[in-house]
Amino acid sequence: MGRTVYVNGSYVPEKQGQISIFDRGFLFADGIYEVTAVVNGRLVDYPSHMERLERSLQEIKMEWPCSKEELRAMHQELIKLNKVDQGWIYMQITRGAADRDFKFPKDIRPTLVAFTQIKNLVDNPDAVRGVKVITVPDIRWARRDIKSVMLLAPVLGKQAAHEAGAFEAWMVEDGMVTEGTSSNAYIVKDGKVITRGLSNSILAGCTRRALLRLANEKGIAIEERMFSVEEACEADEAILTSASNFVLPIVEIDGKRIGGGQPGPVARRLRELYLEEAMN
Ligand code: PDD
Repeated sequence: MGRTVYVNGSYVPEKQGQISIFDRGFLFADGIYEVTAVVNGRLVDYPSHMERLERSLQEIKMEWPCSKEELRAMHQELIKLNKVDQGWIYMQITRGAADRDFKFPKDIRPTLVAFTQIKNLVDNPDAVRGVKVITVPDIRWARRDIKSVMLLAPVLGKQAAHEAGAFEAWMVEDGMVTEGTSSNAYIVKDGKVITRGLSNSILAGCTRRALLRLANEKGIAIEERMFSVEEACEADEAILTSASNFVLPIVEIDGKRIGGGQPGPVARRLRELYLEEAMN
């Protein structure tokens, strides 16, 4: 039996979840999205995701497609209907369907769709063995702070990683790591966690935000600054974070072992702290 998905106000079997070929998400990538994790049937970092969604909508000059209460109720209904214990909810809002014309059409109704994916986020073997990353040039546009559905560069990056036997690709601009194709990037040196500061060059990760707060509370030193691939290769540890993976240790960058090829203590501690909060 397939999932129940949400399409513009209706809950329908996934095979019946359809939108127009004129949808501007399909024609122009004129839309934004959020991925919110679910643990023990509960949404993780939901207020952060909604704050970011609001900002993305503002930046692309779109109104909310429904009230915030309705959106939250929809997330909860999908969890219930699909009996999601662990996994995530993907939600996408596009400007809607209209004959193809670059400028915003008048009187258009946004398209809102959402669906669930089941994944064991807590007992993840990747967290125990660590993952490999490769580096690729960051070929994305200049507004990576907007969670746009225009994801061709990340798709190509992730495919390159997959073909190289790696889990993720770190994107590099002017010699400096921006972020992963679908995650934020960190290194650890002498006990200090180093991650690029927020700007238009990266997405403000909700997992990043929670993690930096937790690290602060626990006295783990954080430095928000750029780092190069060379510096990353010399680091004691490397880490990635996202709603779909939480906190994962990186044990190899471009074939070079990091921290002896084993997950390090800071990555383990940060994952523990994040899980503790997500599960309670
Ligand atoms: N991606 N950077 C990029 C480019 C991302 O696409 C994501 C998330 C992140 C991490 O953000 P957060 O912690 O809020 O998930 C950073 C989601 C998971 C995706 O596209 O599947």
